[in-house]
Amino acid sequence: MSNINQWQPEWSSGIQIIDDDHKKLFHIIKKCWDSWDNRHDSNQLSILLDELIDYVNTHFAREEQHLEQLGAPKLQDHRYLHADLKNQVVAYYNMDQADKEAIGTDVLVFLENWLVNHILKVDVPSFKELVKP
Ligand SMILES: [Fe+2]
Ligand SMILES: [Fe+2]
Repeated sequence: MSNINQWQPEWSSGIQIIDDDHKKLFHIIKKCWDSWDNRHDSNQLSILLDELIDYVNTHFAREEQHLEQLGAPKLQDHRYLHADLKNQVVAYYNMDQADKEAIGTDVLVFLENWLVNHILKVDVPSFKELVKP
């Protein structure tokens, strides 16, 4: 079950479109959880994760573009973190059915924790440093 019930103020980056993306990502993860909690169907989870990874791609590209325009330092490190997450989701995709069923819950816990941690520790500090109120 998801641990995210509502948006927390400390997740705000100060950039509306980035916050909207993060909200949408949480929304998709919540849909994945709802489906998984109901049926533990790895095919259904893969379909929803497909939607998640599509939006992750859109968001990472948008975020990296914003950071580049703002002249963010250490942008390459940030890009590596994004690429690493994408690789881990692809690795899950490539597992066989039984393994997917076995670790579905762990994958969702991992994704949710990754997103919260990444927003709090990487995204928000990066934008706050570049955009002074
Ligand atoms: Fe990021
Ligand atoms: Fe982000």
